[in-house]
Amino acid sequence: MAAALAAPPRFLTSSSSYSFLPPLFFPPTRVRLSSPAKSATLRWRLSPSAAEAAAAASAVTEADPESDVDKVKFDWFAQWYPVAPLVDLDKRRPHAKTVMGLDLVVWWDRAEGRWQVFDDRCPHRLAPLSEGRVDPWGRLQCVYHGWCFDGAGNCKYIPQAPIDGPPVNTYSRACASVYPSFEQNKILWFWPNTNPQYKNIAERERPPYIEELDDPSYTSIAGMRDFPFGYEVLIENLMDPSHVPYAHRGLMRVPKSLKARPNSDREGGEPLDIKMETSSITGFTARRNFGFNKFIAPCVFYTSSPIVSGNGSASSSDVQKDSSLKTHQMSRRFLIIFMCIPVGPGRSRLIYTFPRNFAVWVNQIIPRWFFHVGQNLILDSDLYLLHIEERKFAKAAATSWAKLCFLPTKADAMVVAFRNWLRKYSNGQVPWGTTATQQLPPTPPREQLMDRYWSHVVQCSSCQNALKFLKALELSLQIVAFASVGIVAAIKQSTLSTISTTIVVSMAVLFFVTSKWLSHFIYKNFYYHGYDHAFR
Ligand code: FES
Repeated sequence: MAAALAAPPRFLTSSSSYSFLPPLFFPPTRVRLSSPAKSATLRWRLSPSAAEAAAAASAVTEADPESDVDKVKFDWFAQWYPVAPLVDLDKRRPHAKTVMGLDLVVWWDRAEGRWQVFDDRCPHRLAPLSEGRVDPWGRLQCVYHGWCFDGAGNCKYIPQAPIDGPPVNTYSRACASVYPSFEQNKILWFWPNTNPQYKNIAERERPPYIEELDDPSYTSIAGMRDFPFGYEVLIENLMDPSHVPYAHRGLMRVPKSLKARPNSDREGGEPLDIKMETSSITGFTARRNFGFNKFIAPCVFYTSSPIVSGNGSASSSDVQKDSSLKTHQMSRRFLIIFMCIPVGPGRSRLIYTFPRNFAVWVNQIIPRWFFHVGQNLILDSDLYLLHIEERKFAKAAATSWAKLCFLPTKADAMVVAFRNWLRKYSNGQVPWGTTATQQLPPTPPREQLMDRYWSHVVQCSSCQNALKFLKALELSLQIVAFASVGIVAAIKQSTLSTISTTIVVSMAVLFFVTSKWLSHFIYKNFYYHGYDHAFR
């Protein structure tokens, strides 16, 4: 799915060779994943020790022995988590989000000029603050009984408290719980711990910084989608490049030496040479035939094709042989960044973005929703099977993942590495917050399972606007169609020639048919697309 998701839309291709796409090759040393702060903001080490590399390489396709469990555990509640792209947050209203099993309310604090992330629970009687409003003074107001909170969580107003009575709003129990939050790379991040020791955590530690996302010479479009399967399944799916063709629909350039075998299957699977390079509690790196990957625990999975060295020469013999690689193409960079968010058991969220430093103009003229339609189709293609796959794992919970699955090829190396990491540092599972149980939710009807409206559209400002516009257009077409027929019927036959009548009626029919087509388009792209592999 990873490569397919990142592939630019088909309309951008001038031919199957996709002329302006870069070969996606750039050097690992140029991956600028670093923090702007010099403090210990990025714990990722780009250069592995020899011992680390050797240890990682030995675990290419085999799961570590089950006894290989580290005493040092990954602290899931002492990490930064992406919440949402800023562009999709409406400052006029609070937003409900769930991350790590914690219900959050995200709202724009006008006084501080920043987004705040609170526990989505009013201290009065636990009503969800996300159902409230931002009041005229810029405070978050619970709409159940009207309590108001400032950006620090202080209760500023209790309508029921007498003016001459005790100042009950100043009591600590009247305060809302505030999570540390931070805006970086046009994404809102939060730290899932309200312990006072983390209040200023952003001064000591920052989320992984991706320089390209703030680089004006790059363009990128972010998207977000909720899924009815868990974080583990989502991240595995994105780490598995083998279930999509490298040259997905001809959109990605493939070195000639890596061309598909004549008997390749319809899904385009190919042998992949994935080598693990580093592995530690903070994540791992891997190199594949013509790609480079990083997992920065717990959320960021970063993939690129780092074949070209710093001086512009190819570092892979496969690529060196590919005469189609031009120097000017090498300066083009294209990155695939996935942020996989644990929402709750059986629920996850993906934020994706693909910065590139070429064809920047495309994103300036094509609306964001247009790209999302294509990305959603790709995401839908695996959705149902991943949902079912997770339930099969759950049914066999007594058996370890390594025993359940047979992964004999290197194509699964990163999937194995992720499961190894999860078992070694987190006992094989995500420790959810107190509000979530480990039980998977029941499977809803397929139409609900693959719903696009609640899983994406309501969270995406661009798709919301597009939906409003297209619905208005559909209605307008119907009004014009019916009005035309009505006018023809109302006008006396003698005043309208046969030709004029035929033209008007034909136009009315055309408008009506177009409105019906539009209705189908809207439903398929904004509500539900019944993806069926058998007929694709
Ligand atoms: S529950 Fe929020 S004000 Fe009463």
